[in-house]
Amino acid sequence: MTLDSIPVVPGGNFAGHMHLFQGDDRLGLFQRIADTGELSRVSFLGRPVVFANSPAAAHEVLVEKARCFEKSPGIRLLLHYLAGEGLFTSEGELWRRQRRLMAPLFQPSAMAQYTDCMHDVAARAVATWKDGAALDLATEMTRVTMGIVGKALFDSDTFDESDALGEALTLALAWADSQSASPRLVAQIALTDALEAVGAHLPGGLDALRRRALASLKEPFLLEGARSERLQGALAVVDGRIRQMIAERRAQGLARADLLTRLLAARDEENGGAAVMTDQQVRDEANTLFIAGHETTATSLSWSFYLLGRHAAVREAVQREVDALPPGPVTFAGAASSLPLTTRVFKEAMRLYPPVPIYARRLLVDAEIRGVAMPRGTLVIVTPYPLHRRPDVFPEPERFDPERFLPEREAARPKSSYIPFGAGPRVCLGLHFAMLEGPIVMATIMRLARIETDPARVIEPKLSATVRPGGGVPARVYRRAVPS
Ligand code: HEM
Repeated sequence: MTLDSIPVVPGGNFAGHMHLFQGDDRLGLFQRIADTGELSRVSFLGRPVVFANSPAAAHEVLVEKARCFEKSPGIRLLLHYLAGEGLFTSEGELWRRQRRLMAPLFQPSAMAQYTDCMHDVAARAVATWKDGAALDLATEMTRVTMGIVGKALFDSDTFDESDALGEALTLALAWADSQSASPRLVAQIALTDALEAVGAHLPGGLDALRRRALASLKEPFLLEGARSERLQGALAVVDGRIRQMIAERRAQGLARADLLTRLLAARDEENGGAAVMTDQQVRDEANTLFIAGHETTATSLSWSFYLLGRHAAVREAVQREVDALPPGPVTFAGAASSLPLTTRVFKEAMRLYPPVPIYARRLLVDAEIRGVAMPRGTLVIVTPYPLHRRPDVFPEPERFDPERFLPEREAARPKSSYIPFGAGPRVCLGLHFAMLEGPIVMATIMRLARIETDPARVIEPKLSATVRPGGGVPARVYRRAVPS
């Protein structure tokens, strides 16, 4: 079977389906795409894009045939300025080496060192809340998770959007976000593909020109605002601050305990124990960890509190679990063993609202997916939102039910049917970090404050770089008297 055998998603026009992706209800669109078949097809300006919709199809793309794919060029272009050749966007040998170097910093045994900062930053945020104050939990959660990543990465106690670096990173990220569905992005990728394709047929001089053009096409210059003073100014702030922090750490003999220092000190055991990351690579990785590491967790926490606000019985059960913790900061051991329900709530929130909406790949070689032959260059996309709402895997999928994540029920589900962190070799590096951070932040906050949201208020998901609660999560917060 060939690509032509894959059903086409209804609603396309002469230019394909691009216009549908610019609408407000992209999650609804993803659901319609998934309802079209196990594989379904759209086209962007004549380029076929395949959606892998079943758990088995997602598993084949992300895990079994991962080696046949690279990440889609779109994400590399969008994050070019900020994350450059960082782990999220790099490929091939560079990615393999960087993953090998960074994996030890994020394995379960390395996690205990981060719990204090997760607890402290959450407790400090609650300390700034006035009793009875009205606030937006989504904004607060971003503040908390940005503070945690700032402490873990840069050992900074004051890292938030009011910090110049935090502000500049947030601005650059918002720009990438605003361009993620731009037709210019597709145009720049199509131009790159066309230039790559004509390669073999050009005489020497023209080929040199083509190579120069291809090199410059790595920069997202067709995108609106790419060269704007505002964006480039923010990037200059990011570069200046990170380079300054790197210089400070080198001057101090790499004695600090933050991730930036550990990146600078990382040695490649497969390469004679040499230190291998250049300052530029460390900058790209630090930015990558900042980008990948805060908004995802913030949205999951916001949805968790929203869902608890609408389900009083579960909220009370979580409160009992949290109040049964021993006094004092939530520890690593405590989080791992004493917060099973809180953890299940966090997981169920990520089922209903998986923070990363799209996992996009491009075939590096001709390959077969679910028996369909696909040529090199085909874009293949997995969308966790409809995948997590399949009634055959999650009965009554719209219902909030943390008990779906009881260990025996988790074990009985098909592979790649629940993938908020992705799957396969490119699975989230920060998975263990996030799975500790979510429950610890929830527990710390619920111990120190009572959060009231309007149980009747329905908040719709809004898709941008992450699946955010549209309009935030308005809440009223009351301080609780807690044994210290
Ligand atoms: C709830 C929180 C989080 C969610 C839902 C999440 C989700 C994801 C997903 C889906 C991917 C893979 C995307 C793809 O395959 O196309 C990913 C990759 C990644 N994440 Fe996370 N993430 C979270 C938190 C974190 C944290 C806290 C960090 C670091 C501190 C982090 C660092 C990374 C990195 C570096 C990658 C790239 C890995 C690679 O390609 O080798 N993430 N994340």
